[in-house]
Amino acid sequence: MSLLENLHWRYATKKMNGTAVPKEKLDYILEAARMAPSSSGLQQYKVIVISDQALLEKIKDVAYNQSQIADCSHLLVFAAWDEYTEERISNVFNYIMDERNLPHSTMDGYKNTILDLYATKGKEWQAHHAAKQSYISFAMAIAAAAEQKVDATPIEGFLPEKLDELLKLKGTGYKSTVILPLGYREEDNDWLLNMKKVRMPTESFITEMTLADAADTAELPMDINLDVFIQK
Ligand SMILES: Cc1cc2nc3c(=O)[nH]c(=O)nc-3n(C[C@H](O)[C@H](O)[C@H](O)COP(=O)(O)O)c2cc1C
Repeated sequence: MSLLENLHWRYATKKMNGTAVPKEKLDYILEAARMAPSSSGLQQYKVIVISDQALLEKIKDVAYNQSQIADCSHLLVFAAWDEYTEERISNVFNYIMDERNLPHSTMDGYKNTILDLYATKGKEWQAHHAAKQSYISFAMAIAAAAEQKVDATPIEGFLPEKLDELLKLKGTGYKSTVILPLGYREEDNDWLLNMKKVRMPTESFITEMTLADAADTAELPMDINLDVFIQK
């Protein structure tokens, strides 16, 4: 099946049947999540995997009682950095340079550029920016689950503060952003299963533009240049 066929097969499963997802399929989905691209390659998020039934029941309580959380096989909790700090960014860049056998200083120029840029934006923007990156990983996991014929329900309907408290995330530098129960559909008991999948028509979703359609604004001089990534 092609990626597109798998995306048509998947749906936001409303009722799961409790069947366990085999380890190799879970690992495949997690690896897809890990391989997601992220801004500056910082991977400013992580994934927490939960299959403990008692903990899943508690999470359901802070997620508006959505049954998929208790009936899934594994719950993936995506959690992103709550701010950008010099230490966090340095740790990642140093790791990348070590993996590439390059001196840590290779990234200094770029690192200082983004640190200066992020400092002007404030902590709320930073947490939001990190959270956005986690959604790319989340989307990769959704697509990989579909490829593995594993059902998944993207879920934002939970109380992040309560979940962070429950998972002891407070003080770790991470905040939960979005969650993904993985499992198998309960075919006889899921109202959404046989509903038509609906998306806005292609012609309203996609717009092609040329310069003639763009605003006639003056070119802005940019004092920051992100084009040069590696120090020469
Ligand atoms: C970020 C995000 C949050 C969502 N939150 C919930 C949720 O809390 N509960 C739920 O049942 N579905 C949730 N959904 C599922 C959407 O309603 C669903 O993806 C959308 O209606 C399209 O349907 P489909 O996924 O079946 O194609 C969420 C989807 C996304 C992408």
